[in-house]
Amino acid sequence: MKIIRSLRTMTQWSQVQHRRGDTIGLVPTMGALHAGHLSLIQRAHRKKSRVVVSIFVNPLQFGPHEDLLKYPRTFPSDAQACRSHGVDVIFYPTVASLYPPGFKTAVKVLEVSDILCGAHRPGHFQGVATVVAKLFNIVQPDIAYFGQKDAQQAWILQRMVADLNIPVSIRTVPTVRETTGLAMSSRNRYLSAEEKDLALFLYQALRVGARLIQGGERHSARVVKKIMDFLKAKKHIAIQYIALVDPIEFKPVSYITGRVCIALAAWIGKTRLIDNIIVSPLR
Ligand code: PAF
Repeated sequence: MKIIRSLRTMTQWSQVQHRRGDTIGLVPTMGALHAGHLSLIQRAHRKKSRVVVSIFVNPLQFGPHEDLLKYPRTFPSDAQACRSHGVDVIFYPTVASLYPPGFKTAVKVLEVSDILCGAHRPGHFQGVATVVAKLFNIVQPDIAYFGQKDAQQAWILQRMVADLNIPVSIRTVPTVRETTGLAMSSRNRYLSAEEKDLALFLYQALRVGARLIQGGERHSARVVKKIMDFLKAKKHIAIQYIALVDPIEFKPVSYITGRVCIALAAWIGKTRLIDNIIVSPLR
């Protein structure tokens, strides 16, 4: 397994693979790898591609009061995990090489970047789209893999590659959960044991919503209210938003007629967690 830090070396490596007729699967990450990331790597292997994992804690996607400085940086164990999962290259650029002095460009997918998580984290999705566009240009993957846990991010990146004619297919891979149902996230490391016990109510709350919809409820506002009541009863969970969106258009849904994504964000102590599920109403 190669560890490449230079942008130029990364692009040259990819060009060699393409000349040989190989395809490249990219798994973009900010490190602190967990089972969710490993499932993305496994999916990339299924295509018999060469697999590149990028590890870069992207300052552009953190707000001024967010956790950029304390975000877990665990390169040695990440490298070990990549090695044991047959990754070909870890692309591990520096901040100075990706954002040299004079850097002035931003990529923003309009409208959808400003709802749900975007409404609470101004600039976040612009930071994500900008770095992912750069990673695509440097690594030149054929396919890139993202987790369904970050459903809004995956949707925005699909839109970005379509709108900018970037020749990459985006694959969204199901959320990996702990046995309790808690969605895997690098930020779960911040949780104390008591907070982890609280965090698993987030998935249970989504299941409450799913059962209502499958039981015939069609009004999103009523579903949201029931989920909110469930979480409020647990105390010490500060709900940021609960929303129902159409998974294809990523637009809020007020009356449910087909598949719907229930998404939420909440603070457990000082940790902000997100989760979502897609529900098909029973006919
Ligand atoms: O999902 C993440 O880890 C990040 O948002 C990403 C896609 C690697 C961009 O920094």
